[in-house]
Amino acid sequence: MAHVPTAEEQIQSLREEIHHHEHLYYVLDSPEITDAQYDALMNRLKKLEEQHPELITPDSPTQRVGGKPREGFAKVAHSRPMLSLDNAYNEEELRAWDQRVRAGLPSSETLRYVCELKLDGLSLALQYGAGAHESAHLERGLTRGDGTTGEDVTTNVRTIRSVPLSVAAKKLHTAHLPQSFEVRGEVVLPQAAFVKMNEERVAQGLAPAANPRNAAAGTIRTLEPNIVAQRRLDFYAYFLLRDGETLLPTHTETLEALKTAGFRVNPHGATAKNIDQVIEFIAKAEPLRETLGYEIDGVVIKVDSTAQQRRLGFTGKAPRWAIAYKFAARAGITKLEDVLFQVGRTGKVTPVAALTPVLIGGTTVTRATLHNADEIERLGVRIGDFVQVERGGDVIPKIVSVIDDKEHPRGKKEIVFPSVCPVCGSELMKVEGEVDWRCVNSSCPARVREELLHWSARSVMNIEGLGDAMVAQLLGQNPTFDEGTEAVTEEGAPITTRKPLIHTIADLYRLKREQLLGLERVGEKTADALLAEIERSKAAGLARALLGLGIRFVGERTGQLLAQHFGSMKALREASAEELEAVNEVGPKVAQAIVEFFAVEKNLQLIDDLESLGLKMTAEKRVVGTTLEGLTFVLTGTLPNLTRDEAKEKIEAAGGKVSGSVSKKTDYVVAGEEAGSKLEKAQALGVKVVDEVGLLKLLNG
Ligand code: IVH
Repeated sequence: MAHVPTAEEQIQSLREEIHHHEHLYYVLDSPEITDAQYDALMNRLKKLEEQHPELITPDSPTQRVGGKPREGFAKVAHSRPMLSLDNAYNEEELRAWDQRVRAGLPSSETLRYVCELKLDGLSLALQYGAGAHESAHLERGLTRGDGTTGEDVTTNVRTIRSVPLSVAAKKLHTAHLPQSFEVRGEVVLPQAAFVKMNEERVAQGLAPAANPRNAAAGTIRTLEPNIVAQRRLDFYAYFLLRDGETLLPTHTETLEALKTAGFRVNPHGATAKNIDQVIEFIAKAEPLRETLGYEIDGVVIKVDSTAQQRRLGFTGKAPRWAIAYKFAARAGITKLEDVLFQVGRTGKVTPVAALTPVLIGGTTVTRATLHNADEIERLGVRIGDFVQVERGGDVIPKIVSVIDDKEHPRGKKEIVFPSVCPVCGSELMKVEGEVDWRCVNSSCPARVREELLHWSARSVMNIEGLGDAMVAQLLGQNPTFDEGTEAVTEEGAPITTRKPLIHTIADLYRLKREQLLGLERVGEKTADALLAEIERSKAAGLARALLGLGIRFVGERTGQLLAQHFGSMKALREASAEELEAVNEVGPKVAQAIVEFFAVEKNLQLIDDLESLGLKMTAEKRVVGTTLEGLTFVLTGTLPNLTRDEAKEKIEAAGGKVSGSVSKKTDYVVAGEEAGSKLEKAQALGVKVVDEVGLLKLLNG
């Protein structure tokens, strides 16, 4: 008789599978399953653990969130002080440090440096100790504190997905790690998460965090683990200790071992044979700043050899064997020339500062956000003031303070927040308890413009060719509409505003070729391409349509969950607040917003129009075929013709599922060249193995 797995075995295998996918997703950035599939695994584990609470262990993935933190945080001494670094601000200082390093070592020795990005977050020490089955498990997470004593923020650290809760025996072995060790590294808040967090804070009437570092520090020290979990902090490891001592002979090996053990190590590092190579690295690293998605404020250079590090030792608070090269600050002083008021998709009016152009961190800044009326008051800023402008994690620069000294006389003109919409003239309204003033005219041209841009955005309908300029033209506006400048073409000729071709999103789907051809600089090719894109977007499905409609609080993920749960717009429209709250992750606030959205006649009309124009208002059903319905595949190795993504796409299009790990439930393993452990496991479990030809045969039924 076949062995029926016990609850413990099921729990164990689910945990392993979840760990595996978390690692793929959070550490390697290459998920192999969808969010929904991940949730399903997690839910199965939660159910089993509910039935068998005695089997819950602190390193179970279900334990990332939850667990009440104690009052405040306990103070704990570090195994070895967490030091800071000396700084170098220019090449000269860096070369002087290199001289000192070489002077401190015998001249016969070769010297090698490791260059790393200096992540602008806060440092953490993670202590691992012996766990079950010879694994190591996370025992404690400490902040730097004063360097000698840190705060125990373990509960919050557990919610950071790139922090492994445990490291399996096998991985420890491959990484040559003992069961107890300490990893140090940096917690950062990605810029996108920072922007989102500040939007939420501002909406709640709280002051926005000044930069992602402060936001990360505040987050890791909150007493609400649920909030920490939502914030999506990231952890990059850069140190490995055992009993307060560096474990491995070189820093390069340390980073390798950390990677092998499942920690996230920043990929932008390099070794350098001499200071010239370090300087080359720095020159390449600085422009990365604009593209990383998280903040860096310099480059850290470390002596690679642990023995040499020991010989060089420390001065007071910092090691002699490392230095931080700091990039120039991304802040500057400039004059506030004027304040413009922009109207967003939801009608929210945002004051935007028009500045005397100033070069900050390699970018000319001419605009900065002032967030809202309260922020203007808090800053006490007037037109004509000199202001300190910072480019933080936010792409949009912001004014942080008003300068008031001899060289910078105060401005005279008060900033008057408008009482009517600067675009359509409707009266502005403010919901009690909120800080934002809103234009409530849903036909306001500024709002329609933003709605259309949102609808066409890549993450929504992904309509190529429907950008700023095209939307403006379709609305009969000039392309520089929101800047408040005079309308001119690129060549400088004035543009006459014309009758709008569209008034709503639905009108997009009514556009005729001839209408497009009548627009400025739109030829046959452009018109046909745009029409084809618009046509294609009809099939995007319910989740994207929901996202596109701009229902408050309904982002990408919530849209997907709602679509999967209800299956059709019709069912969703009729759902009560209670029924909505039955959906995983939908709370009362979101449910209320959805109910309110569907109570507005105009919204219902738009949905009906879109549906009758051919938009798909049902959840993703597999379209191509169902030949592989119910079958689970695992891909391994390199296939001769298909890339892994292509193979995956084909399998999924035919109704099959692709999983990242082989289990008894796997139906087929598709193996290519250099297939590894997955193939071995398949053979051990007796799972069928096919090659590319075999897969294609299956696909063709
Ligand atoms: S090594 C004893 N490496 O910078 C040396 N630090 O200014 C300890 N930091 O407290 C630090 N990225 O919070 C190191 N790749 C990196 C870093 C890094 C950021 C932070 C760390 C440290 C501060 C010193």
